[in-house]
Amino acid sequence: MDQDATTGHTVEVIFSAEDIARRIDELAVTISAAGLERPLVVPILTGSFVFAADLLRGLHRAGMEPEVDFLALSSYRDGTRSIGRVDILRDLRLDVTGRDVLLVDDILDTGRTLAFAKDLIAARGARRIVACVLLEKKVRRAVAVEADLVAYSCPPVFVVGYGMDLAGRYRELPFVGRIAPNA
Ligand code: IMP
Ligand code: MG
Repeated sequence: MDQDATTGHTVEVIFSAEDIARRIDELAVTISAAGLERPLVVPILTGSFVFAADLLRGLHRAGMEPEVDFLALSSYRDGTRSIGRVDILRDLRLDVTGRDVLLVDDILDTGRTLAFAKDLIAARGARRIVACVLLEKKVRRAVAVEADLVAYSCPPVFVVGYGMDLAGRYRELPFVGRIAPNA
């Protein structure tokens, strides 16, 4: 539990910092065994920045030397619900033609964000795309897309922390949690 001083909201831990750190090392070993050539890691900003930073250092421990470039996408949300449009807020600087790309995102929910990113990078001629997400929600898929690697299956609740926000808040929490109703 983490008490928020300004709102009085409590965040219940779902995945702890220690658990996430362990899981990232497992994922990194799996990724290093996947045979990616000259791997380019592409975190989908903003929500994945904490996960991507930890995963990247896990990849280093697993012996990889990836490049990194960022794609900032905005999937418009009305509060906590996706309303369907995805825009590019910041495009890649590197050319992905012929590259092996590891896409990294925080949550696979409706699938619109990941599908958009995969289609974009495939259309630009990437040789191989491996999608890795921290959390997968099993419900609400609006687009048929799957991640190749999933750290955790996520309960069907709105989660925050470890980079993920609710209206700009809670990204700094070192764990993934849910907002508990006010007592
Ligand atoms: P999708 O396009 O609906 O799959 O949603 C993906 C994006 O929506 C994620 O990258 C998150 O940024 C955001 N998102 C979806 N569910 C949650 C949640 O429970 N908490 C915080 N952000 C979420
Ligand atoms: Mg996101």
